[in-house]
Amino acid sequence: MKKDFLSINDFSREEILKLLQKSAELKQMRIDNITYHPLKGKSLGMIFSKHSTRTRISFEVGMFELGGQALFLATDQLQLTRGETVEDSAKVLSRYLDGIVIRTYDHEEVINFARHASIPVINGLTDLNHPVQILADLFTIQEKLGKIEDIKVAYLGDGNNVAYSWMLGASIMGIHLAVACPKDHQPKWPESMGSLGKVEVLEDPLEAVHNADVLYTDVWVSMGQESQSEEKIKRLQPYQINQKLVAAANDGVLVMHCLPAHRDMEISSEVMDGKNSIVFDQAENRLHVQKAILDALLSPPKQ
Ligand code: CP
Ligand code: NVA
Repeated sequence: MKKDFLSINDFSREEILKLLQKSAELKQMRIDNITYHPLKGKSLGMIFSKHSTRTRISFEVGMFELGGQALFLATDQLQLTRGETVEDSAKVLSRYLDGIVIRTYDHEEVINFARHASIPVINGLTDLNHPVQILADLFTIQEKLGKIEDIKVAYLGDGNNVAYSWMLGASIMGIHLAVACPKDHQPKWPESMGSLGKVEVLEDPLEAVHNADVLYTDVWVSMGQESQSEEKIKRLQPYQINQKLVAAANDGVLVMHCLPAHRDMEISSEVMDGKNSIVFDQAENRLHVQKAILDALLSPPKQ
């Protein structure tokens, strides 16, 4: 049966640990120049309704490195934006492709697409969540700290898709996550998701960063929300990751950002380019982790 990856909780803790292990192997194989083509002859479709640098390029290169090919499909070039239904598009594309990555606005659209597709569907970001990002973030933390247990991560800023995915990911992995956002911008945690585990949602950024091993932020205005008021940006000022917040966290705290960054808004340039920042290693790891996801979901089942 096909397996989709629409949200980080589509995988169990054990499955996530296995994917992290595979990502490390794939990263090492790339360093050692070892050819590994489990997806030879396979095609990945990539339907994007929003801009992308990291997700698009790391999936395209990743698919190529695994021996397959990726087709970038901008939605304004597809019949999908001329009235062909999501259901019909999913059925037709399933006849040609071996997997699909979708980046769009409404999360329900990806769920609907996956329901009607007979091939694996991977969420490349929706307004609700960004699971491939969180998996790569977990890998990066494990790589840098040597563990993902017994750590504290502080997320600061807008309670958006990345914050929400982090809440899901942290609750699955048992990570202590403190999310600090202004009251009106806190992520919603649906009751159906059950217990928050060691996740707490706060207003005070200093309380969130206290004892933190990792500080994390994302843009204050996400794609598709550009009309949101200047008022929001004003309210978010105290959540900027700057030297003051870095100094209030643990010594050697790691600073992460999923990128793209708006320098000197959610993160000061000084911190982004400083010794605690691992943002570019984090961006690189998107490639290795997404190769592990593609390998797991698109490879033929072992006999
Ligand atoms: N972090 C991330 O998903 O970046 P892109 O929007 O460039 O894909
Ligand atoms: N929250 C951001 C993430 C970009 C990778 C957005 O949705 O625009």
